[in-house]
Amino acid sequence: MTTTTHNSTAATLDLDAVRAEFPILQQQVHGKPLIYLDSAATTQKPQCVIDAVRAYYECDNANVHRGVHTLSQRATDGYELARDKVRSLLNAKDRAEIVFTRGTTEAINLVAQAWGRTNLREGDEILITHMEHHSNIVPWQLICEQTGAKLKVAPVTDTGELDLGGFKSLLSDRTKLVACVHVSNALGTINPVETLTRLAHDAGAVMLIDGAQATPHLKIDVQAIGCDFYACSAHKMYGPTGIGALYGRRELLELMPPYQGGGEMIKSVTFEKTIYNDLPHKFEAGTPNIAGAIGFGAAVDFLNRIGLDRIAQHERELLDHGMSLLDQVEGLTQIGRAKEKAGAMSFILEGMHPYDVAPILDYAGLAVRDGHHCTQPLMERFGVTATLRASLGVYNRREDLDALIEAIERARKMLV
Ligand code: ALA
Repeated sequence: MTTTTHNSTAATLDLDAVRAEFPILQQQVHGKPLIYLDSAATTQKPQCVIDAVRAYYECDNANVHRGVHTLSQRATDGYELARDKVRSLLNAKDRAEIVFTRGTTEAINLVAQAWGRTNLREGDEILITHMEHHSNIVPWQLICEQTGAKLKVAPVTDTGELDLGGFKSLLSDRTKLVACVHVSNALGTINPVETLTRLAHDAGAVMLIDGAQATPHLKIDVQAIGCDFYACSAHKMYGPTGIGALYGRRELLELMPPYQGGGEMIKSVTFEKTIYNDLPHKFEAGTPNIAGAIGFGAAVDFLNRIGLDRIAQHERELLDHGMSLLDQVEGLTQIGRAKEKAGAMSFILEGMHPYDVAPILDYAGLAVRDGHHCTQPLMERFGVTATLRASLGVYNRREDLDALIEAIERARKMLV
């Protein structure tokens, strides 16, 4: 295990020390040093997260909340401690407001089904935006089909920002829920979630925020935002896959029926009647991803140790550097030029399809995502089927972006 420490009050990031914490970054791909620019798809894992998962399986593995034996108690303590860490990271008031899920997608499905089935009826409306990921579109389409509610979509401007006027004009007393991404995975746009929450509440609607791409880059305070639900995924935050969290305001979670039935979510079961468990366990049916939660807790420790302010500042500098380099590439158009942006740069190249460019970049050791980024309606809005996307993590360097530009120039020579 690495013993590197970082003082989160120091002004700058010790990038070499940060990079040394990520064993995967030390390898070569196609004989070239790996340059990982796909953190929006999933972040790499620091040694402390890998060690926490391994230590759990090596020393403490047992089921949670189900036994008095020592291992079961250790597993339960580790799992519940992770919940406390997530609560603190998001600044939720109460640990009962943090429900572990498989990730953001499951968190949104949970709200769509558990809240939606009891609160939506024909004529009601759900307002989303044109920049949503499929996981913040399809769950709402499903509940609309089931309840007769209608889905409304707020427009996005040519620079990739939310059209606030358009958003406001779609809010009415029919709007029962607003679901909006905090940071767009495809464009990097940071949405003004406090303002949107206030507008949603003024219209009498409940506010859900998809925070999958925000939590690795920004300090989140769900109480300051004022939202009712906030969803995130550990694997975008240097933690394991298959685990994430839903923050839900206690008053709303209390009134919602369970999402799934099974062990853990009950207090007592007879064939006549089942009494549900207290929050948050009411929403955690079955044996949870215990190792994942413990790894998630270690990832939260990592984010706190490096400091989200420093991460944000480092990534902002990288973003400015990367965007100005991309602007100098002939025939390159950046999609998404919002003033407030984090994490991702999307672009297309004249005469070159992203699917053809990505393998050439891979051959140069660069991991960059191509495709529609699970945002097909957004791609359509910009008149493209796919983009190339370079996305940032705390371990990226300016020279990673310099290498990206060199590789794009090489691709042009090969393809045009
Ligand atoms: N939502 C992930 C991405 O943007 C998978 O790549």
